[in-house]
Amino acid sequence: MTDTIALSDRGLTLTLGETPHYFNYFWLRDACTSCIDPQTRERIFDCSALPNPPRATAAWIEGDHLRLSWQDEAVVSSVPLSLLHEISATGRPHDPADLPRRLWMADFEPQIARIPQADVLHSDAGRAQFCRALIEDGIAIVTGMEPGKESLTALVETLGSISPSAEGYFFEVRVEIAPTNLAFTAGPLEMHTDLPSEEAAPGLQFLHCLENTVEGGMSLFLDGAAVAEALRAEDPDAFALLAAHDIPFFYRHDHLDYRAHQRVIETDPQGRVTGVTISQHLQDTLDLPQELLDTYYPAFVKFIRLMQQDRFRVRFRSQAGNCVVFDNHRIVHGREGYVAESGKRHLRGCYCDRGGLRSTYRVLAKQGYDGLAAPARATA
Ligand SMILES: [Fe+2]
Repeated sequence: MTDTIALSDRGLTLTLGETPHYFNYFWLRDACTSCIDPQTRERIFDCSALPNPPRATAAWIEGDHLRLSWQDEAVVSSVPLSLLHEISATGRPHDPADLPRRLWMADFEPQIARIPQADVLHSDAGRAQFCRALIEDGIAIVTGMEPGKESLTALVETLGSISPSAEGYFFEVRVEIAPTNLAFTAGPLEMHTDLPSEEAAPGLQFLHCLENTVEGGMSLFLDGAAVAEALRAEDPDAFALLAAHDIPFFYRHDHLDYRAHQRVIETDPQGRVTGVTISQHLQDTLDLPQELLDTYYPAFVKFIRLMQQDRFRVRFRSQAGNCVVFDNHRIVHGREGYVAESGKRHLRGCYCDRGGLRSTYRVLAKQGYDGLAAPARATA
């Protein structure tokens, strides 16, 4: 229930329920519903065009809006009370895609969302379920992929566009004669996130298994955010070091020399873990101050050893016709070695950014698809 409004020089105090909340006049003027063009849905009000800082002469509640009149403008602004409640509760407008991460451990494998490609492509409920799993769990398996290159493109395009990398739009994970990457051998592949050497490391990774008849080569995944939280609980100082400093990564060949700095543990402004960056085979010579390395290296080693514990690691065999999709900033992946002569193993991969994932989920959520209900069987 809304009670009192008290005007002051630069803003007003509005009591929402029992609690008074302060709102700045610039912010209120900018939040007026008339500032957004209904056709383009873009902002058409420029607060820098005001001759003086805005100052309310009166403010009152009308229905479910706060109304304000202004000292230097012949307009009456209208701000939804729902927005004021959201700001007073969390400091930001409601975002349906801001779902809490559900951290997972080694026993998570049976719970990984498995969604048929036809559902993702042709059912809003299926697509919402796919998006929600990627936001909450960071991983989902799309089953029953149509064969062929276009199949992977069609899947990615339910979320956005394919993001190119140094290897182009797609990469092929199979044994190559002159490999440019450890992934393109039959050897084991240590746990890592992809392409930290690029300015913007890829957001989502897609690995479409086209063929897998070899002995060995089990796929390995872990939730980097769960490992980071375990480090925070065990050694908060080590966590703080890895979350505070960027370290260098490279990707270097005859015709390439990519270099970028990344943070091993990524956090948001609220201090929540949003992801990790790990790639020891692409890690460059550390360039932090030598004295800082006295504490940084032991913290880093502790994190790597924690990550190697079996309690975090999910292990399964990639099945032909499945596509594993995961958040490359959170889910750390690797592969056990395999016997190259025992059969064929071929995965086709690509990336897209996570902005498209969240955008897709917000649009679906607005239409009533929150991703919790399983889809009715889609007809392709
Ligand atoms: Fe990889």
